[in-house]
Amino acid sequence: MRVIVTGGAGFIGSALVRHLVLERGYDVLNVDALTYAGNRASLNSVEDKPNYRFLQANICDRGAMEKAFQDFRPNRIMHLAAESHVDRSITGAADFIETNVIGTFTLLEVARGYWSKLPDAEKDAFRFLHVSTDEVYGSLGEDGLFREDTPYDPSSPYSASKASSDHLAKAWQRTYGLPIVVSNCSNNYGPFHFPEKLIPLTILNALAGERLPVYGKGNNVRDWLYVEDHARALDTIAERGRIGETYNVGGRNERRNIEVVRRICEVLDRLARRTAHVRN
Ligand SMILES: NC(=O)c1ccc[n+]([C@@H]2O[C@H](COP(=O)([O-])OP(=O)(O)OC[C@H]3O[C@@H](n4cnc5c(N)ncnc54)[C@H](O)[C@@H]3O)[C@@H](O)[C@H]2O)c1
Repeated sequence: MRVIVTGGAGFIGSALVRHLVLERGYDVLNVDALTYAGNRASLNSVEDKPNYRFLQANICDRGAMEKAFQDFRPNRIMHLAAESHVDRSITGAADFIETNVIGTFTLLEVARGYWSKLPDAEKDAFRFLHVSTDEVYGSLGEDGLFREDTPYDPSSPYSASKASSDHLAKAWQRTYGLPIVVSNCSNNYGPFHFPEKLIPLTILNALAGERLPVYGKGNNVRDWLYVEDHARALDTIAERGRIGETYNVGGRNERRNIEVVRRICEVLDRLARRTAHVRN
């Protein structure tokens, strides 16, 4: 299996690359522009593996993407490259439109050109997995969860740009028959999480004795998904997902932000007590 992963130096992408290279033994080409969010250190465990390659390139660069497809000849593309931080999208939406909308459009077109020339058997086996967010559905209420048929209701430049990219992916499947599957997941957490996100930021600030990052009363409800579970889910969806279908991935772990922050504080307090006990 030869897989192109876009955004493989990011938080979820790197978990996926580690899974595909180390657990599945697939040949992986990681295409990543290495923006502020990309971190090659999260790929140290695969860097010297013969089935792993890295290409620093922007997904909006059509020539570079065409060359990557031609040289690597993938059976599958798993598209995760994105601008992903909601707060940044509010202060600077342009990069979000560029990468999430134009970049996805570019990849769809390049994949379509490549796929249309494949021999029939390879054409049938080819898959394009478009990875997106459950934020396209809007806000989660006190109870309940999003379903694949929940109407789209994006509320930030980030979620609107991801919603646009989902619509493009579905249109390329229906119009051109490109074998696309879409996944929408909830908030991920786990190793190599970028420090500006809620869980790592809370841990770091708490350890430094600084203010904790709670907006308003912290009543926003989000579902939390462990990133390595998500990587396995993406692998399964790419392998067994039905073409044209959407799959939501969640952890069944809905929590108000304030509950997440309080829980982290409890754990850190417990660890601090244990460390103090060992020292004494
Ligand atoms: N983190 C979450 O909780 C979460 C939740 C739902 C969905 N998602 C989606 O999952 C995907 C991955 O999220 P993440 O948290 O790993 O993101 P991330 O911000 O950690 O990583 C994104 C990666 O994409 C790369 N990139 C950005 N623009 C690029 C471009 N133009 N060309 C090539 N590479 C580019 C960056 O260098 C980085 O390595 C995104 O599509 C995101 O919308 C994330």
